[in-house]
Amino acid sequence: MGAMPEEIDLLLPQMEHRANQVVGQRTFTSGILANKEVVVVYSRMGKVAASSTATTLINIFDCQMILFTGVAGALSKDLNIGDMIVSSSLVQHDMDVSALPGFRKFEVPLLDKQFFSPPLWLADKALSASEKYLREVMPADIDNSTLKKFGITSPKSMKGLIASGDQFIASKEETLNLLKDLPDILCVEMEGAAVAQVAEEYGVPYIVTRTISDKADHSAHIDFPLFVKEVATNLTCGVLTELLKRL
Ligand code: ADE
Repeated sequence: MGAMPEEIDLLLPQMEHRANQVVGQRTFTSGILANKEVVVVYSRMGKVAASSTATTLINIFDCQMILFTGVAGALSKDLNIGDMIVSSSLVQHDMDVSALPGFRKFEVPLLDKQFFSPPLWLADKALSASEKYLREVMPADIDNSTLKKFGITSPKSMKGLIASGDQFIASKEETLNLLKDLPDILCVEMEGAAVAQVAEEYGVPYIVTRTISDKADHSAHIDFPLFVKEVATNLTCGVLTELLKRL
């Protein structure tokens, strides 16, 4: 699962026995990828779109696991464009019912949790898949001049906290605000913690992997579309294919 077509497009031609089914305006493509039965879909952007798509994957397609891939804006100073993040936990940074008595900021009401935690074993597999992709596959997958253009020299993989909300973050002020409350955030995106909530509610294992496309600052609105157009698809689909081989 990805949010945008560019984040999953490369997977489709690699699939065998492909069949499309449209449910709720999303096209779900079933088939075989890396010897696994899979359903590939893009949800469109945002928490509602992602939640509805994840629910369909579970209820209609009987998916036993959800792998989400895509791009994200870096909040940690240690991250650069091209680095890969695996979720060890996720938070909905725009969830705030704390004006009501008894609720903490970021807590999902009546679920009694602020953070979602994917299975550790899956996070470890995703981390080693992204390390392998960056070390062994990427050099042949993306040409040097493209990597240079984005300043990608020695990209790394990290596990950590991913924050999701229905905003594209593109200013220092917004990033500092988020870090004030949640100093451990590695990156921001718009779907992961919504998928996490649905998957946890249904007891389905899940993981979110993200490639850094921008630094969630004043240049994010330029870096993001360029990165998505020119390199994201290789990185997001590459790590997912590596992960599938390990499952
Ligand atoms: N996805 C990629 N970059 C992002 C950003 N800066 N904010 C939210 N989602 C993103």
